[in-house]
This record gives sequence, C-alpha cells and structure tokens, in this order.
Amino acid sequence: MSFTIAIDGPAAAGKGTLSRGIAEHFGLAHLDTGLLYRAVGARVRDGDEAVAAAQSLTQADLARDDLRSADVAQAASVVAAIPEVRAALVAFQRSFARRDGGAVLDGRDIGTVICPDAEVKLYVTASAEVRATRRFHELQAGGSDTTYDAVLEDVKARDHRDANRAEAPMKPADDAVILDTSDLDIGTVLAQAIKIVGNRR
Ligand code: CDP
Repeated sequence: MSFTIAIDGPAAAGKGTLSRGIAEHFGLAHLDTGLLYRAVGARVRDGDEAVAAAQSLTQADLARDDLRSADVAQAASVVAAIPEVRAALVAFQRSFARRDGGAVLDGRDIGTVICPDAEVKLYVTASAEVRATRRFHELQAGGSDTTYDAVLEDVKARDHRDANRAEAPMKPADDAVILDTSDLDIGTVLAQAIKIVGNRR
C-alpha cells in the first residue's frame, strides 16, 4: 500500500532533517528531490545542456560529492526554472512517491504539483536569517570557508527565484500544515510532525 508524505519549503528550512526523521520513524523510503535538481545543476556547470542532463541523469550523477556546495545550489535553482527540466524529472518522483510501503519526498512542489493527492502535506519554513545561520554552520562543518553574509544572500536569491518562477513555484499547498521552525529546535518540530503523520495513518 502506498502512503505519501510531501514536505516542501524554502532553502535550509530543515526539510532534510525532518524528512529523514519521519522516514526513519515510520519505516518509509525517502527521496530528497533537491538532489535531482542539484545533479542537473552540477552537470550544467560541467558544460552539459540542462534539458539533456535532466533527461539522462544517472546514479553516478546523484552520488557526486559536490552536490551540497553553494555554487551547485545556485545552479540547481537556475535549471529548476526550466519547464522541460522539471518535466523530465516528474515520472521518477511520482513513481517513487507511490511505491509500496510508503514514501517521504521533500522539495518545493511536492504537495502542489508532484503529489497533489499526498496523504500528508507539510510546509516547513523559518526566517531567512535563521535558515542562513543553519546552512552557514553546515557548510562550515563541511570545510567551506564561506561567510554568513554570503550564505544569507544565497538563501534569499534562491528563495526569490524559486518562489517567482512560472513553472511549479515554491508555495504551500492549500491543504498543507505550516511548520515554522524559526524559534523551535528541529527535535521539537520532528515530534510535532510525527504526531501529525501518526494521526493520518
Ligand atoms: O537543501 P536546500 O533546501 O538548500 O535545497 P534543495 O532542496 O537541495 O534544492 C536545491 C534547489 O533545487 C532549490 O533551490 C530549487 O530551485 C530546486 N528544487 C526545485 O525546484 N524543486 C524541488 N522539488 C526541489 C528542489
């Protein structure tokens, strides 16, 4: 039986931690859909054409160790605005979402476009400053020598591009539960989310 949990929200809102925690708690598969766009962005940085890259993504593309960098994040949000790139990634995401045993997908358009019939929809958000602080610490821990100001600028630029594109813009589905993590630690938010999912299962 399938059971789909859609988790959307802006950059560094805590979607990844939340999705992995929910998937682990309920024994569901998890797909970080941002990685698909990051992999296409990385291929474009290597000189490939965006649509062709999206149509020919491989496991090796998704396993690259540079996908979490700030440069690749920006490239991802540029290619993510191209309708043909998004179209090339729809079937894979939908079939993952409906796999037997249930799945958690996190991204920007999961509850609105990819899985409008998802059993649970969450929209995770936080202030740009809080998100930039979290992402700055993550990048620093990964050895990056970036600054907080650069990360804040990156987060704001991506939010703006993601929310204002014509195709599948980032926004909460009408029936999504909004979780604002600005003043809450991720453990508290995870407990809230587990309760919401538990009530619908
Ligand atoms: O981890 P973070 O929230 O910073 O970003 P991500 O989820 O890895 O997504 C990287 C970029 O991919 C986003 O800025 C979006 O432009 C794009 N994306 C999208 O358009 N649709 C999705 N379902 C997931 C990501």
